[in-house]
Amino acid sequence: MDLRPKCHIETYGCQMNENDSEILLAYLEELGYESSMSVADADVVLLNTCCVRESAEDKVYGKLGELKLMKAERPELVVGIAGCMTQQPGVGEGLARRYPFVNLVMGTHNLHRFPELFAQARTSTVPVVDVAAEPEAMPIFPRGVREGGITAWVTILRGCDKRCTYCIVPYVRGREMSRPLAEIRGEVEQLVRDGVREVTLLGQNVNAYGKDLGDDQGFATLIRALDRVDGLERIRYTTSHPRDFTQEMIEAIATSRHVCEHFHVPVQSGSPHMLKRMARGYTRERYVDLIERIRRAVPGASITTDLIVGFPGESEQDFAETLELCRQLRFDKSFTFMFSPRRGTPAADFPGQIPLAVKKERLARLIEVTDALSLAANRRALGQTVEVLGEGVSKKNGERLMGRTRQNQPVVYPGTPGQAGRLALVRIKSVNTWTLEGEIV
Ligand code: SAM
Ligand code: SF4
Ligand code: F3S
Repeated sequence: MDLRPKCHIETYGCQMNENDSEILLAYLEELGYESSMSVADADVVLLNTCCVRESAEDKVYGKLGELKLMKAERPELVVGIAGCMTQQPGVGEGLARRYPFVNLVMGTHNLHRFPELFAQARTSTVPVVDVAAEPEAMPIFPRGVREGGITAWVTILRGCDKRCTYCIVPYVRGREMSRPLAEIRGEVEQLVRDGVREVTLLGQNVNAYGKDLGDDQGFATLIRALDRVDGLERIRYTTSHPRDFTQEMIEAIATSRHVCEHFHVPVQSGSPHMLKRMARGYTRERYVDLIERIRRAVPGASITTDLIVGFPGESEQDFAETLELCRQLRFDKSFTFMFSPRRGTPAADFPGQIPLAVKKERLARLIEVTDALSLAANRRALGQTVEVLGEGVSKKNGERLMGRTRQNQPVVYPGTPGQAGRLALVRIKSVNTWTLEGEIV
């Protein structure tokens, strides 16, 4: 029987936070902890939080309510809050005041100081609050502990230097800082030795990789370097900013062997007027031109996007332009959000805030269009034979495997757990809006 103490980490938000949680778990494992799926049997619970929308913060408040009750029953339970939410001005201290049972409140810039802060928090009788105002130089982290072991996240740069008027990320993640190329390559090589077959390079804006190190085409350089790593089957990356996606990067991807034919390029709106108010730094025409150039260079590429409805001042006409752009570009998949005003961002104080009922109604209409486009995209795969990388047993059916096409569509197909981690050729027999199903040929 394993007598190691147990820790449970709840992750909210984006892949960057998932990767940070893997790093937190690596620290805790070094301290002798074992990961647990449930809060109930954990000795330590960490919440790795997100504040990109109000709904993300609400989930954290709900969880803190639950933890308060548990802590009353088990006072020895150690509770920590990390991540983007605490990094907003005054919020870290506010959380410690409102939830005095919490042992540790830390931010995103001091992730590398976790072992030290955790030690303090375990012995302190009051909450330890440590939220650094500014990121230091890029720290070296332990390699994250992965689930599954076939695919892995690799953070290539932290922070964001853009200032989209709706977005809190630059305020809580700080300025852009790239990891040195050799360090990234070393990590990817080690992952491959450990059995990983696919890596996803992470950054708020991966296309800005290397700019702070003096290489404006750094992302293209990195792609070319990683494409040569022996044994690595697939390379993915997210997220791309349309403005920083250069022709050289498109060509580096097009001529690579391992970079997948999937481009996640958030457009946010189809209205030129909204794009300007969002300070996205591109026009609708330039975005359309980018997608056309990608499709010319990489035939069969899937294009996915993020869309915001109900941005301040969005008229019915502006919204119609978003619907129209979706139909024109036939996005393979869209992540759709209602604008959520974030304190401290310019758009929170813009005139013309849109009532919630209107946002909801527009979101529903948008999803109807984007879901139909996803279904149409999946239907195009019917009857085709596609390359799938098995990631593990399907959650819904233990006799089937779940994997992904190079275009990032989830595929369910018959297979044994031993076949995970292998590439298979699968003939697609049925599809719905979200998944493909098929048989190995
Ligand atoms: N850096 C990426 C980019 O440029 O698109 C991702 C940023 S954010 C983590 C992911 C998505 O959340 C954004 O693309 C945007 O659509 C959405 N988002 C950001 N701020 C938002 C807000 N205040 N309200 C609603 N959606 C928001
Ligand atoms: Fe936010 Fe814009 Fe930076 Fe993306 S590029 S993280 S949307 S500020
Ligand atoms: Fe959320 Fe922070 Fe990611 S605000 S979306 S967890 S960068």
